[in-house]
Amino acid sequence: MTTTPCILGLDVSTTASKALCIDSEGTILGIASNEHPLSSPHPMWSEQNPETWWDTMVQSIRSLVEMPSIDPEAIEAIGLTGQMHGLVLLDSHGNVIRPAMLWNDGRSGDQCDRIRTQIGHQALVSITGNDAFTGFTAPKLLWVQDHEPSCYAKISQILLPKDYIRWQLSDVYATDRAGAGGTLLLDISTRNWAAHLLSTLDISQEWLPPTYEGTECTGQVSHACASMTGLMEGTPIFAGGGDQAAQAIGVGAMDPDTWAVTLGTSGVVFAPCNHPSIEPMGRAHAFPHAIPNTWHMMGVMLSAAGSLQWYKDTFAGNIPMDQLLQETSDIQPGSDGLFFSPYLTGERTPHADPMVRGSFTGLTSRHTRGHITRAVLEGVGYGLKDNLQLLYQVGLPAPKRIRISGGGAQSSLWVQMLADIMGTPLEIVKATEGAAVGAALLAGTGAGIWGSMDDACGQVISVEGQCDPSESSVLYEGFHSKFGELYSCLKGFYHS
Ligand code: XUL
Repeated sequence: MTTTPCILGLDVSTTASKALCIDSEGTILGIASNEHPLSSPHPMWSEQNPETWWDTMVQSIRSLVEMPSIDPEAIEAIGLTGQMHGLVLLDSHGNVIRPAMLWNDGRSGDQCDRIRTQIGHQALVSITGNDAFTGFTAPKLLWVQDHEPSCYAKISQILLPKDYIRWQLSDVYATDRAGAGGTLLLDISTRNWAAHLLSTLDISQEWLPPTYEGTECTGQVSHACASMTGLMEGTPIFAGGGDQAAQAIGVGAMDPDTWAVTLGTSGVVFAPCNHPSIEPMGRAHAFPHAIPNTWHMMGVMLSAAGSLQWYKDTFAGNIPMDQLLQETSDIQPGSDGLFFSPYLTGERTPHADPMVRGSFTGLTSRHTRGHITRAVLEGVGYGLKDNLQLLYQVGLPAPKRIRISGGGAQSSLWVQMLADIMGTPLEIVKATEGAAVGAALLAGTGAGIWGSMDDACGQVISVEGQCDPSESSVLYEGFHSKFGELYSCLKGFYHS
């Protein structure tokens, strides 16, 4: 059992509630994870029950603190992270009003148009740094205003998923500024709620929690939570960050020299910035970073490793993932003319199009399962390259290094394909549960366990290797531009 100081990172992700404990050298002392279901009661809807997040989180924390390696009294700080943009609505008694609407919920296209009209597109982008995307919190809130007025009338508090966990842990309503950026209600320059925007959209600022920098303390573990989880009452809880900002910290993407690519359910290209930088049309996301007084831009594709998971579950349920991936190794780059568009739940960046759908294009009777699997992997790579190019188009200077992490990055075959398609070396970081580690680093720095975020990352993060582009990279330039033509061709079809 450890008696040296340790830190907890809690991550309420789309798939599971995870609790991780690290010591000051970054050694992982324990991880516990419990899955929660996702429901899609109508096309384009994506919902979860916040109470289930809390139940699964309690189970994970309990299992963690009961591990022989962990002493709850040695836990000096707790950091929070989680899926971004989710809309959690509470009434005046703290009861959940309706299921949470998640980051990949696409139902609020009309409300995005309404926001652009009411605020003005240019004003919206210059205040928030972003265009209105269907998964963001504000359009979904307006959907409730339009379609469920009786729910809207009960609202007393609006929270993001991780902040619902924070409230259960500490009885405190609070949020971090990196996550708050994803609501579309934050002023990117002042890093606080945008009063004019709120009043124009008829959203009460009293419903929104106070905002904190990622390393700031927001409260302590309450008596009730301590007896439920086994944590010590009074353990300080720090703001942390939305999962992408926390994941970026978990791989050391803290300044403009280091970008991060995350291959999770969603696929992300993340670029830290020293100043708020904005894509003039709002086609890329621009948010505060979880590190005080820094910002970031990012491109987000909605179905990255999520596309591969869908493909396996649907067509190859009983074939081990390793075998499925191995079958692609004899297939030539470009999958003999087969393309997969990874728009299974519409697309966020660079297309901002909830109506576009996934497709296989170019199937012939010569294609094998290996071709189809390879086309899925390549399609995700082309989507990531679209996002990398989008960030370069903004004029951000090229980074010195790009680090890759996330579940999909465990496949060296896929990482090689991505380095080839994106035409850039990718550093591979040992990042088990990177977002939870990032949240723990923010909390540990806030608690003074590390002197700065640089010290924290220096102690904890290690680069395991680098994957350089191979000679296939040149071929992929041509395939990527064909992939780009596909969206232009199919857009009208889906919209009609
Ligand atoms: C980021 C985003 C997703 C979710 C998934 O903008 O929507 O990455 O945070 O967890």
